[in-house]
Amino acid sequence: MLTFISHAVSVICGIMAFVKVAKASEIAPGKIKGFLIENKKIAVANTGEKLYAFEDRCPHQSAKLSFGTLVGNNVMCKAHGEQFSLETGKPVMMLTHESLKLYAVKVEGEDILVDI
Ligand code: FES
Repeated sequence: MLTFISHAVSVICGIMAFVKVAKASEIAPGKIKGFLIENKKIAVANTGEKLYAFEDRCPHQSAKLSFGTLVGNNVMCKAHGEQFSLETGKPVMMLTHESLKLYAVKVEGEDILVDI
C-alpha cells in the first residue's frame, strides 16, 4: 500500500519514479532486452559504453525493437530497417516522422533502474 501511495504521489507531483528492471549483468554489451514493467513494454540496450531505455515498440509499425540490433548509438528495427537515435529518439531514415519514446535509466549497484 505504501509503495502504491508513494508511486501515485510521484506521478501526481511529476517526480521521477525509477523502477528496477534487471541486473546489469543480464544485458551484455551489444544486446537489447525487452521487459514488461507495470504494463509498459520497455527495452533496455547496452552499447558497451552506455545503457539506454526506450519503448519496446517501433514508431513505424509497432514491431518489437528488442528484436532489433544496435548500430552504434542507434537501434535498428528488424521489420523494415528504420533506425532510431537512442540519444534523441529521432528516426534516421524517415520511414516515420514519429520519434521513439526514451526513458531515463541509471545503475545503482547491480541494478538497472528505469524512470517509467
Ligand atoms: S515496424 Fe519498425 S521499421 Fe517498420
